[in-house]
Amino acid sequence: MEIKSAVIPVAGRGTRFHPVTKVVAKELLPLVDTPILHHIVLEAARAGIQRIVLITSKGKTSLEDYFDSDLDDDLLRKIDIISVRQGSPRGLGHAVLCARPIVGNEPFAVLLGDDVIDSEVSVTRQLIDASQRFDGSPVVGVMEVSEEDSCKYGIVGGKEIDKHTFLLDKLVEKPKPGTAPSNLAIPGRYILTPDIFPLLENATPTLNGEIQLTDALQALAKKRKMYAYQFTGKRFDAGDKFGYLEANLHYAMKRPEIRERAKKLILQMAKELE
Ligand code: UTP
Repeated sequence: MEIKSAVIPVAGRGTRFHPVTKVVAKELLPLVDTPILHHIVLEAARAGIQRIVLITSKGKTSLEDYFDSDLDDDLLRKIDIISVRQGSPRGLGHAVLCARPIVGNEPFAVLLGDDVIDSEVSVTRQLIDASQRFDGSPVVGVMEVSEEDSCKYGIVGGKEIDKHTFLLDKLVEKPKPGTAPSNLAIPGRYILTPDIFPLLENATPTLNGEIQLTDALQALAKKRKMYAYQFTGKRFDAGDKFGYLEANLHYAMKRPEIRERAKKLILQMAKELE
């Protein structure tokens, strides 16, 4: 089945990016001159997604305004943007559950609003293709991380059944050092099926009151076959100060009008830092 909807949760507090996120949604911060969210919606559009469900919260209306503005991209102009409020930030799992009335009984993609991935083939497309190879099963996008970084992500465990494809038996959110089932982390791309919703609805919140998507996915993996696909692309955690800087430099190098000057500046700075 072709996937029509993509859920993009953008309702988080953005505490890693204080103070600016006290008044500006981090998803609106530019990579050179283009908001983070623009890149993410474009990835979904390039995958053939027709409808974006933005999960928003207080102070995020400028994101909706942005997509009302005159965008000079045909793909973006064609896509429908619907927003749903998450009254308070009760975790990523709860944010995804907020999309249920719009998504209904169909499979859907999830793209986190602060994870940018530059790739030749849209990563969402890579995951939809993987899901279709396995009868429309849920698929999470994964990438290799170092052992010391594994405690920052959801980590999967399973067996490799095909090139870059794993049948999952374990999904653990932020494992304690030395306990990660593998070095494959989920940075924020998913193809999900609607049977995730009752699991999210009945999930036990963590100590801080959040509903974790990874916990519901672990429960789903016990009920049906679920896969991870190691995508091809360069990923940036644009919700983190360093990741944001890295993403800005990466996209600056792709802009002919500033590339040479930016390169000179970086080389000059590197010399001065020696
Ligand atoms: P993050 O944990 O990276 O984002 O959540 P955050 O909570 O905004 O940022 P920090 O950690 O405080 O700096 C991943 C994604 O899930 C969304 C966020 O907006 C982000 O895109 N999210 C998270 C929600 O929509 N609702 C939530 O309750 C939590």
